Amino acid sequence: MNAVNRFPALFATLAISLAACSQSNPGTTSSTASPQATGGSATGPIVIGIGVAQTSNVALLGQEEVAGAKIAEKYFNDKGGINGTPIKLAFQDTAGDEAGAINAFQTLINRDKVVGIVGPTLSQQAFSANPIANSAKVPVIGPSNTAKGIPQIGEFVSRVSAPVSVVAPNSVKAALKINPKLKRVATFYAQNDAFSKSETEIFQQTVKDQGLDTVTVQKFQTTDTDFQSQATAALNAKPDLVIISGLAADGGNLVRQLRELGYKGLIIGGNGLNTSNLFPVCKALCDGVLIAQAYSPEYPGVVNKAFREIYVSQYKKEPPQFSAQTFTGVQVFVEALKALDSKKKVAQIPLPALRVDLNKQLLIGKYDTPIGEISFTPEGEIIQKQFYVAQIKMDSDGNNGKFVFLK
Ligand code: ALA
Repeated sequence: MNAVNRFPALFATLAISLAACSQSNPGTTSSTASPQATGGSATGPIVIGIGVAQTSNVALLGQEEVAGAKIAEKYFNDKGGINGTPIKLAFQDTAGDEAGAINAFQTLINRDKVVGIVGPTLSQQAFSANPIANSAKVPVIGPSNTAKGIPQIGEFVSRVSAPVSVVAPNSVKAALKINPKLKRVATFYAQNDAFSKSETEIFQQTVKDQGLDTVTVQKFQTTDTDFQSQATAALNAKPDLVIISGLAADGGNLVRQLRELGYKGLIIGGNGLNTSNLFPVCKALCDGVLIAQAYSPEYPGVVNKAFREIYVSQYKKEPPQFSAQTFTGVQVFVEALKALDSKKKVAQIPLPALRVDLNKQLLIGKYDTPIGEISFTPEGEIIQKQFYVAQIKMDSDGNNGKFVFLK
């Protein structure tokens, strides 16, 4: 009789505690950076920080970002990393608020000694955490921050997430194509969220530019779950288009409650609703929601084909925009590091100098990424060519759905 058979209870307990140990801090560092594993050291991998929301409601977006980053880590290491030196991602959970983002960024900068950071998830967080990285001269690439003013936070801040001014109008034009007769627009936005406030300005301007009428503007909080009073007020104004700028949990609940109150017209969701994690919130009632996209799984680039194949094999669905953008953020760091390394071995550059050089290099590069061929303005704004609009199609039982890209 072996030890496991003689002491089954003991081994069961041990197995549980081991499992608990390996899961402790599930939301913090999932790849721990070793002390030598810094960008400017002679040995060890080059560490890139990923500071996104792994917990809280914002993880509905952040989980997709983690997935994209992990695929990028393996993909680029399989291709030889930085001219033979592997990269390693250090993950820190920002959760959903500003304090969480600041903590995560400080840990990445000071403890994990990253060469640069891809993060945070929300613009609301970026306006608080990015100035800290900027003062420390650590490059930050925003994977999903789409509010006006992000690259202007400072010289070390850029983004791979095209701004609301470029993305949002596409969905209004798509709505008009589906229903050329629509005229009366109700706009909703989360007033405690920087991105939502920025996006609604663009939506409201686009409504005007397209000759439509704003019949009501309703405000809510991203923490709200009950939208009865705003939804009722909006329906009394008899809209034939509703536009929502919020995040996934609140946005999904608002869609559901508008439909439950009998609203039959088109709904546009903004960038914060651009995730299949919305489906369990509004279920069958998510059907038909239009959302502009800064990524299409069909984009024919070589890197996208590989990324899409890996994502589909792992998750059994098409890759979402937030995963593609975060992969792209990692790719920009990797390719800029490779370009630097071919001039001077990055392992020999002290970390503070490497961070500064990396920031300069990434801004002048051109990248063929899952989201297309991109480059940056000197200020760090993304230059991207292709945008799309998708419409949510739910199965009638509401359990499964997908984004159908409109032609
Ligand atoms: N696009 C959203 C933001 O900027 C997620 O906060």
